[in-house]
Amino acid sequence: MPLIPLEDNFNDVIAKAQRGYGISDADLVARAEVSLEDFAAVKSGIPLLPVVRRLARHLKLSPDALVVLAKKEAYPRPPIFPRGFAMFNTPDEDITVNNYLVWDPKTREAAAVDTGTNITDLLDVVKSQQLRVVAVLLTHTHSDHRAALPALLAATGAQAWSHEREPLDTPGARTFADNAYFHLGNIAIKTLPTPGHSPGQTTFYVQGLSWPLALCGDSLFSASVGGSPTRFAEQIKNSRARIFSLPKDTVIGPGHGPLTTLAHERRYNPFFAPDRLASPAGKGTTAAPASASAQAEADATAAPARAVDLPKRPRAGKAGRPDNKGTPPAKPSKSAKPGRDGARAFKSRRNRSA
Ligand SMILES: [Fe+2]
Repeated sequence: MPLIPLEDNFNDVIAKAQRGYGISDADLVARAEVSLEDFAAVKSGIPLLPVVRRLARHLKLSPDALVVLAKKEAYPRPPIFPRGFAMFNTPDEDITVNNYLVWDPKTREAAAVDTGTNITDLLDVVKSQQLRVVAVLLTHTHSDHRAALPALLAATGAQAWSHEREPLDTPGARTFADNAYFHLGNIAIKTLPTPGHSPGQTTFYVQGLSWPLALCGDSLFSASVGGSPTRFAEQIKNSRARIFSLPKDTVIGPGHGPLTTLAHERRYNPFFAPDRLASPAGKGTTAAPASASAQAEADATAAPARAVDLPKRPRAGKAGRPDNKGTPPAKPSKSAKPGRDGARAFKSRRNRSA
């Protein structure tokens, strides 16, 4: 799969924060004390960095992280999953949308998370890996994330699931509650509530693969977030509480844009990063902040995230069935493979709000 561009440019992030927090152009210009001309230039995509920094401070964004985004200096480098996980990226008009397959390599039971717009590649993996897709789990029910649901259900005979606040009108579809568990052999999938972008927006937290994995739909993108015209602050709060509290080596599978890691988003997502990016050498200290560009360079050469453990034994529970009793996931045990080399992909995209 070719490198997927970041979903949002720095000016998209500014516009998204403005909309989300309800701050008009005139208000922002006045608060940030920037000229109308400079503001218009930044909104059109011209990276006037001092202006970008001033605007960030009044939009609850990290100035350093927004500058890194404006300078196109950081691209996520998630580790490879040797087995049990596949990502798909399908076209949706002028953008693309992600969907995923998660499976237990031993039992070959699989769950699809969202469907994208085309399932040809997904079905190729199902066939080549000899998988049995037992569930289609929807992060939310916006049309781009479930466009191929009828085709996927017809091809696999899987059960469709969505959050109880977003029930599907698909015959036979079922709903899950917050903090439910699905089990696929050794794999446990917990439904973390991250509403805001939509009422039932859910992050599926997957344990039992080589790395902890959070498939978060439009709650979070690499270096950005999904839009929400009415519940934006709630969305940020929920994502901070439920995604950013996961283990730091968690891999993040967003609904749009590239696969990323929690560690990367902690540092480079303007909505969640600290105002000033700390130097790696200053870990655990209050060291003077490094420049954004130096920080990006340091990240590009940093060692991959530490390996995590695999489960020791299969968990009880029926594949594809949610367990709302809070059954804990399997305990990790053995180390997995390190990450792959970094790579960068940047492409201008028109302003949009996913
Ligand atoms: Fe969405």
